[in-house]
Amino acid sequence: MCGIVGYIGESSASPILLDGLRKLEYRGYDSAGLAVFGDDGIRVVKTRGRIADLENKLQTEGGAAGSVGIGHTRWATHGAPNDVNAHPHTSTNGRVTLVHNGIIENYTAIQSMLEAAGYRFVSETDTEVLAQLFDYYYKGDALDAMCSVMRTVRGSYAVAVLTSDCPDRILAAKKDSPLIVGRGRGENFLASDIPAILKYTRECYLLEDGEIAVLTKGEPKFFNAAGQRVYKDIYHVTWDAESAEKGGYAHFMKKEIAEQPTAVRDTLSPRIEDGRVSIPELHLTDADIRRIGKIHIVACGSAWHVGTAAKYILEAAAGIPCETDLASEFRYRNPIVRKGDLCIVISQSGETADTLAALREAKARGAHVLSIVNVVASTIARESDDVIYTLAGPEIAVATTKAFSAQLAVVYLLALRFARAMDSAFAHREATLCEQLLHLPAQIESLLSLDDDMAALARQFAAAKQVFFIGRGLDYAIALEGSLKLKEISYLQSEAYAAGELKHGTISLIEEGTPVIAVATQDALFEKTLGNIKEVRARGARVIALVSEDNTEIRALVDYVIPIPQTDAMLKPSLDVIPLQLFAYYMALERGCDVDKPRNLAKSVTVE
Ligand code: G6P
Repeated sequence: MCGIVGYIGESSASPILLDGLRKLEYRGYDSAGLAVFGDDGIRVVKTRGRIADLENKLQTEGGAAGSVGIGHTRWATHGAPNDVNAHPHTSTNGRVTLVHNGIIENYTAIQSMLEAAGYRFVSETDTEVLAQLFDYYYKGDALDAMCSVMRTVRGSYAVAVLTSDCPDRILAAKKDSPLIVGRGRGENFLASDIPAILKYTRECYLLEDGEIAVLTKGEPKFFNAAGQRVYKDIYHVTWDAESAEKGGYAHFMKKEIAEQPTAVRDTLSPRIEDGRVSIPELHLTDADIRRIGKIHIVACGSAWHVGTAAKYILEAAAGIPCETDLASEFRYRNPIVRKGDLCIVISQSGETADTLAALREAKARGAHVLSIVNVVASTIARESDDVIYTLAGPEIAVATTKAFSAQLAVVYLLALRFARAMDSAFAHREATLCEQLLHLPAQIESLLSLDDDMAALARQFAAAKQVFFIGRGLDYAIALEGSLKLKEISYLQSEAYAAGELKHGTISLIEEGTPVIAVATQDALFEKTLGNIKEVRARGARVIALVSEDNTEIRALVDYVIPIPQTDAMLKPSLDVIPLQLFAYYMALERGCDVDKPRNLAKSVTVE
């Protein structure tokens, strides 16, 4: 959500900034802009729309020459997505130009103070306040001004600042919004995320909350919010630029769907040894696990669906009471968390604002925090007591696929580890389940061959007005995910219902021809779900059913069957989700949607 890039060196800044912004497109945005320090001072070009629109505007306006600059993609929060509200923003006297991610909560009070001091505001954004406030405090010492700004504002920010009196410096700071510094030779980079700078360097500094970076062409310098020098370690990025490129696929989403066997294998195999789960990152002993009063799972979006599945799995496997909350609800509902409880935080980006706030809430109430995170060294990872990384590699498409699958894989590992500590009946099947776990990547691979079938199915259903997903137990968790995948990228209204709940209202929406996707792979619940399938069929629904491959009974009763290979019931979600992702992907294509960057959505939601 919003993206920042910065460059200072000998090369022309604009192409580097535009390239970096393109790499951050996945974060979601509705306007873009840049500021470059040239011979005539700081030149700002910004526009509503896509990066291509910014490039066109740059061309018609004669470009922006210079080798120092900052760029931004804005996802509108305060004020409509238009040219004026787009970043960068400049102080009334033209001295300070900056870009910002996050939300300044006390901006109206600061704006009134600054207006009284003679500053004139032109946009509706909270960001403009930052530019004016920096100028207000700037008496020649930029570091001092930044510290004063940080003392004054409340909220979240990653910010990059140019001042017109200093052509060879970019100042940056962050709180609750990610920002990294890339170190080059005679040049340095700034970005919200690693893919933006990976082409140029793999050496990064990860800014912590309350830290300031001063970038020149030389070695970057870092300070705390009191202006004292801090010395940071370099973080070496292990993956290469190619893993963040499409590599011949039409879309990142398609590539990431195809990468799921690898993502799941990479996440599972280092943690299974001789038929036993071993998670060295988990610092809880058997005794600690036995003392857990309750497990609280918090997450947003698809990660919450993994959490929904995890509740069923952990309770069944380990017998520990477990509750799954949307992070945005948990943080404000005064949750009852006791010392010794465990909070499991699930997040691909490790930066989701609500999830981070829920983590802090649980920690403050005495819970041990274990996070399942994909982005190494992200804020959630750093603030957790234990972190288990999903080894899915960079995920670029807004709609998550491979990170979702890797998160599920970690949940299975935890279930087995906890079951052993609790000596539950489940634990006695550990060796068999480990074998089945290691077979999952091959089964996922086999499901990817449903590609053509799902494309054909999408052609049949592309004109539908709405779709329903139903399922029970773990099938319900996957119904939720299948439905979200479909609606977020194809813009087709879709609802997921616990199969038994449909008759309590929603069945009135079923008409002749309404598509209903029934996830019915939990064999123990099959007959119950079959009853619900019959109910919707009787009202004219066209039913697509996901069932275990050896289920022969279903064929005569539905319109289309998607067979799912056999494995333990607990592991079925990993298989069920694959055809549903493919179906959503092809539905989005059929309906002419921007698969990787659905409108209004952001990959990394850093505001609440
Ligand atoms: C956004 C993304 C979803 C994701 C959710 C949580 O809404 O579009 O795909 O599931 O955020 O993100 P996280 O990074 O915390 O997993």
